[in-house]
Amino acid sequence: MGSVHADAAPLFRALFPHPEFDIDLVSAYAYPAVLERPWLRANMVSSADGGAWGPSGRTRDLSSRADRAVMGVLRGLADVVLAGAATARIEGYRPVRPREVWKELRAGRPGTPSVAVVTRTLDLHPDLLSEAPDDARTIVFTTESAPEERRRAAAAMADVVVAGEDSVRPQQVLAALAERGLFRVLTEGGPHLLAEFTAEGLLDELCLTLSPHLLGPASSRIVAGEAPSHPHDLRLESLLESEGALFARYTAV
Ligand SMILES: NC(=O)c1ccc[n+]([C@@H]2O[C@H](COP(=O)([O-])OP(=O)(O)OC[C@H]3O[C@@H](n4cnc5c(N)ncnc54)[C@H](OP(=O)(O)O)[C@@H]3O)[C@@H](O)[C@H]2O)c1
Repeated sequence: MGSVHADAAPLFRALFPHPEFDIDLVSAYAYPAVLERPWLRANMVSSADGGAWGPSGRTRDLSSRADRAVMGVLRGLADVVLAGAATARIEGYRPVRPREVWKELRAGRPGTPSVAVVTRTLDLHPDLLSEAPDDARTIVFTTESAPEERRRAAAAMADVVVAGEDSVRPQQVLAALAERGLFRVLTEGGPHLLAEFTAEGLLDELCLTLSPHLLGPASSRIVAGEAPSHPHDLRLESLLESEGALFARYTAV
C-alpha cells in the first residue's frame, strides 16, 4: 500500500483565492487564452529565507515531487523555455523530452517546447544544440562580440540569434520569439537573467515555489546581479499547497 501511495501524483490544494481541494494544475497555470505578444512567465523556487540554490549549487536541494510536477506542467504549457547559460550549464539543460501526458496539452504544437539560451561565451553542451527535434530547435541568443568560430559552430546545429552588441537585449529576445510564433514564454532563470527582464519591466507573471527549507546567507535571491533596484508591484493570483511547499502565482500590476 505504501508504495502505491508514494507513486501517486502529489495532490494540490488551493488556499487562495478560494479554498479548494485536488487542483488541476493545467487549468491553474493556463496562459491567457488570447495572446497578441509574448507572455513572459518565470518559474523560480526559493527557500523560506529567500535562497535560490542549495548547498549543491543547484536547485535540486529546494525542489520536491510537487515542485517537479508544477515544473512539468509549466513546460508542457510553454512554447519555449528560456534560460541563462549558467543555469543551462549548472543544471545540465538538454532539449526537453516529450511526455505522454503532454499529447493533448500540446495538440497542434510541437511535442516539446524549444529551449532558448542566452549567452556571450557560447559555452554550451553540444547535445543541447544538436539533439533538439526539427520542430523545436534550440535557440541561442548571443552577441555580436561572441567568439565567431563558436557562433558558426552553433549555427550549424541550432537557431542562433544575434540580439545585441556586447549584451543580449531582453526586448530583442521577446521580439525574436514573437517572430517565431513562440508567445508562451517560460523563463526558468537564473537569477541574473531574470533580473535583466524584471529591470526592463518585461515580466508578466512569476510562479514561485516557496520550499520548506532554510539555507542561510550563502545563496543568491531569485533576482540578482548588477541591475539597479527596480521595485514593481505584483498581484497574487493564486496560492497552492502540496506536501508542505507553497506555489504562488503573481502577475505584474
Ligand atoms: N531558484 C531558482 O528557481 C533557480 C532557477 C534557475 C537557476 N538557479 C540557480 O542559479 C544559478 C545560475 O544562475 P545565475 O543567475 O548565476 O546565471 P544565469 O542567469 O542562469 O546565467 C548567466 C549567464 O547567462 C548569460 N547571459 C545573461 N545575460 C546575458 C546578456 N544580457 N547577454 C549575453 N549573455 C547573457 C551569460 O552566459 P555566458 O557565461 O555563457 O556568457 C551569463 O554568464 C545556478 O546555481 C542555478 O542552480 C536557481
